[in-house]
Amino acid sequence: MTDLRLLHGDDYNTLFDSQAYLTSYYTDPMSGVMPFVLSEFHEAFAEGNIKGGVLLDIGTGPTVHSTMSASQHCDSVILADFSPTNRGILAQWHNRSLSHSFDKHLEFVLKLEGSSEIPSVREAMMRNKVACILHCDLRKDDPFSPNWLPPVDVITSSHCLESVAVDVPSYEYCAKRVAAMLKTGGHLVMVGCVGGSYYMVGKRCYSSYGMTGLELQSAWKKAGLQIMKWKELASTANDQSGDIYKYFSLVARKI
Ligand SMILES: C[S@@+](CC[C@H](N)C(=O)[O-])C[C@H]1O[C@@H](n2cnc3c(N)ncnc32)[C@H](O)[C@@H]1O
Repeated sequence: MTDLRLLHGDDYNTLFDSQAYLTSYYTDPMSGVMPFVLSEFHEAFAEGNIKGGVLLDIGTGPTVHSTMSASQHCDSVILADFSPTNRGILAQWHNRSLSHSFDKHLEFVLKLEGSSEIPSVREAMMRNKVACILHCDLRKDDPFSPNWLPPVDVITSSHCLESVAVDVPSYEYCAKRVAAMLKTGGHLVMVGCVGGSYYMVGKRCYSSYGMTGLELQSAWKKAGLQIMKWKELASTANDQSGDIYKYFSLVARKI
């Protein structure tokens, strides 16, 4: 039976079904918004201007698609998520014990790159670059507590802040937290939702706080970022997985 409560916040600590999430959203790279997401991450890094020592991925979830293009352009990678089950899945991926395969997503990205590399080689490179998998709570002033991270060169994030925010001020607060994690001159590459209010994981509904494109851009500008690229995509998908029909990609630089 479907659980009609709209889950958010600490529910990610206790109720998030990482396996169901992976099965629903990370089986086919051609389904839903995935081609847009993978293509936008690819394009952002393909030009070669976004690179650096440390890449931080915020709200990684149980998936590594957001680092597939980016890993190539940074020396080391930090994955960070609030949910312990997601961090557990990432640890399994890192130690090669995860049964879920990202091969099809890797093939998609390698094709975009025009690369003849095979997925397992790219994946091994990605694993080798992972320095740590951190707990992160964007609702906190000190999101990595009890750990501390010096500002990084590049941040990637996919569909995270709309899961944390409950209104415009809380999104703006999270955006400031994320901006504070970047070095001056560092880059943020992000994809997320425009509008909408929920997405499904198994039979559970999770909150996705929907903002307009203008509200989202304003939040990042207020956080001290210069927007270099903003793109929106209206989706025609009607797959019962939620009420989100518009997505954005953002490339921004901390000034
Ligand atoms: C919709 S999922 C996105 C996961 C993945 N990045 C993707 O694109 O599929 C939202 C993610 O936000 C994370 N999250 C929820 N609350 C959070 C918080 N307070 N701080 C940081 N991350 C949080 C969840 O654990 C989950 O992995």
